[in-house]
Amino acid sequence: MPHASVQPIYLKDYTPSDFLVDTIHLTFQIFETYTQVTNVSMYRKINVEAKDLFLYGEDLLLHSVYLNTETPSYTREANGLWIYDVPQSFTLTTIVSIDPAANKQLMGLYKSDGIFCTQNEPEGFRCITYHLDRPDIMSMYTTKIIAEKNKYPILLSNGNCIDSGDLEDGNHFVQWSDPFKKPCYLFAMVAGDLFCTESSFTTCSGKNVTLKIYTDHGNENRVEHALESLKKAMKWDEEHFGREYDLDIFMIVAVDAFNAGAMENKGLNIFNAAAILCDPLTATDADYKYIEAVVAHEYFHNWTGNRITCRDWFQLTLKEGLTVFRDAEFSADMDDRDVKRLEDVSYFKEHQFAEDSGPMAHPIKPSSFIEIENFYTMTIYEKGSEVIRMLQTMYGKENFRKAMDLYFETFDGQAVTTEDFIWSFEKALEVDLTQFKNSWYSQAGTPVLKISDQYNAEKKEYILQIIQSCPHPKKTNIVPYHFPFSVGLFTKNGVEIANQTHIITKEKESITFTNIDSQPIPSLLRNFSAPVKLEYNYSFEDNLLLFAFDTDVYCKYEAFQRLMTDTITDIKEKKIQTIPENIIHAVHAVMDNPNYSDAMKAELLVLPGLYSLVSRYEIYEYEAFFQAKKIVLRQLANALDALLLHHYTIRANTSYEKNNKAMGERAFKNWCLSMLSYCDHPYNDLLQTQFDSADNMTDSIRSLALLSKNGGKQAQKALASFAERWKDNALVMNKWFAVQASAERDDIIDILQRLEKHRAFDKTNPNKIRSLFGIFGRNYPFFHAVDGRGYVYIADKILEIDRFNQKASSSLAQSFRQYSKLDDKRKQTMKISLEKIINTPNISPALYEVVSAIVR
Ligand code: ARG
Ligand code: ZN
Repeated sequence: MPHASVQPIYLKDYTPSDFLVDTIHLTFQIFETYTQVTNVSMYRKINVEAKDLFLYGEDLLLHSVYLNTETPSYTREANGLWIYDVPQSFTLTTIVSIDPAANKQLMGLYKSDGIFCTQNEPEGFRCITYHLDRPDIMSMYTTKIIAEKNKYPILLSNGNCIDSGDLEDGNHFVQWSDPFKKPCYLFAMVAGDLFCTESSFTTCSGKNVTLKIYTDHGNENRVEHALESLKKAMKWDEEHFGREYDLDIFMIVAVDAFNAGAMENKGLNIFNAAAILCDPLTATDADYKYIEAVVAHEYFHNWTGNRITCRDWFQLTLKEGLTVFRDAEFSADMDDRDVKRLEDVSYFKEHQFAEDSGPMAHPIKPSSFIEIENFYTMTIYEKGSEVIRMLQTMYGKENFRKAMDLYFETFDGQAVTTEDFIWSFEKALEVDLTQFKNSWYSQAGTPVLKISDQYNAEKKEYILQIIQSCPHPKKTNIVPYHFPFSVGLFTKNGVEIANQTHIITKEKESITFTNIDSQPIPSLLRNFSAPVKLEYNYSFEDNLLLFAFDTDVYCKYEAFQRLMTDTITDIKEKKIQTIPENIIHAVHAVMDNPNYSDAMKAELLVLPGLYSLVSRYEIYEYEAFFQAKKIVLRQLANALDALLLHHYTIRANTSYEKNNKAMGERAFKNWCLSMLSYCDHPYNDLLQTQFDSADNMTDSIRSLALLSKNGGKQAQKALASFAERWKDNALVMNKWFAVQASAERDDIIDILQRLEKHRAFDKTNPNKIRSLFGIFGRNYPFFHAVDGRGYVYIADKILEIDRFNQKASSSLAQSFRQYSKLDDKRKQTMKISLEKIINTPNISPALYEVVSAIVR
């Protein structure tokens, strides 16, 4: 059983702090075996009744504590420090030592491959020093770092460098001062031997900002794209949100061991190296887009997150949902808006929908949690972003901007709530968003829209009826959702005769269209206007027509998804043996259509993911759907063999270029190649040629994945030569692990067991954990293999990892979240593994929270 600290905390229990901290002076003295942290903070009582002060602190070795100049009366607890009878205002000095090298939770100050770095969001600061550690305590920081000059020539913290110099014994110091008040989760420091790539940006008001990206030596030639992305983001935020950067310097540091993608610390972002470093040979086009998006995301946090921050962690979506929305709009402007939307929505429906129907489903503003670490989720981030997007859809871009301006103007420098955000819209636009707020911010689960229609030929009237429900089991008292619903209508000849957006607020609503000459076909939820599921009885012909003619790419894409879902399901249920000719023609038509970009073709023609296939039923049958999907892929590939080869070949011999068009060509080319790999004639020679001659990682890794899907000697050889070539590049080796963890092979557990002993593997590095174990957990047909070996294996890994990193172990435990949806046999075997975890003494609170939700 886990420790007694496994108690949920509730949003309703929020109370303001009794004390404020106006200034914090930190001194870090870095020694080889420990780091000493001196914290001099000015406290001020704001609740006159308060007598005692509690400060959080974890894994701190306390040397001394002074209240002004005296030792106060105090006691130490496992998770902090009580100081008794404190005066109205006082200076509190604590001196502690910590052991960054032993810190594998990667929270607080830790050492990643020789570099000292920090991660303090959400509650890492308490692993550095004693503090109130809550985001509504905002203070001014100065930071002095002292370390051996040879080993740690670079010493960084937030804000501006105000002093530096040499000390005796080969040490030196640097002092930083941040002119902005901030919560402690935005504090950062770095010490190490790093290479600096420097550039600059002139802001809209003519201020010159120094930009610096720090990497370990040898990676300095992989930062150009990140630097360019940063400048684009800075400019974009000025133009689209009127947000100018506010310090003279902006720094990014890339480190190997990092729990998340990156962190928006004020003026000193710390990044997972995977979200910064790229060049064509080692990074895919998807990596390039990811890096551009994450760099922008962290930069955008400077206003949505840092200047205006969260009052408490229940408000996480205030900064994350909003910032994801901002980075999505930025990416859309940098490339093809429609393609970006399709990428996001398809990912959302495969993964957020899964979360929202699983045991950890939560509203974008949760009402309780055990470990906030477990709430950095698709729901808080991506659904949060969709909720913001709905506001823009309902009120238009201009009004959206007007409300955002008011938000920035009103709350700058404060720690606020999602209510404050919504207030800005209500106030600026003179609207009432009570229902919007109560539905989207407080209810878990994905709403379902049941849609039926009626055509009246005499009246020339067409009526759509919409009934909404939210089938989440835990819910009573459902507030109907308030959302925009975009609809188009088509004639049977594919002519678009209507395109409108309606605002839905009631459980049952109908929309009447007049002057409609014949029964139309509706194009529903255009552009995914709300994060909901749709139920409407489309016929096969309707789907074909929408796929061919719909002008809304989301609805076009959905039409294809339905066509393929129905076909795969019919094959699975043996209702048909061969796929309909019409589907082959439809795919053929898109492939040859000169009006679509290659990027669009590659996006439109992707077959439904396994989760969307299985999740339409009570019991998830991964194995059966996986087999049926393979049959469909084979038949489609055989039927289109010559055309696939044609489109592949005309794109095969272009050399690498970095631009949107070339990326699109590579995407479509590789879609063709992947289809060809399903043909009866396997095209192994083609896969091999691409693998051997690739001048970029996109082509290389795709051919490697396809070769290893087909297995055999050829696959072995390719995997071995890839590993030999890239053995010294950790980021590329992660791809090599991931390819094998996602392989469709019956002996996959043996492979995983071999790989975790590989010298490039390191279970204390979260990227490695994700590449091998995390990816395997999403390799549904094989993770859920009926023999249960996948469950036993991953449960053991979870327990191993939980001993040193609860964030990593609890995320990996999400692999088990479909427990209640499995057949009895699998459920029984999975249950044994889940019980093993939960019955292990002293598992972390984070892991306990996830697993107990699954078995509950
Ligand atoms: N705020 C970071 C972001 O930009 C994520 C931090 C995640 N940290 C964590 N410990 N889960 O989204
Ligand atoms: Zn973020």
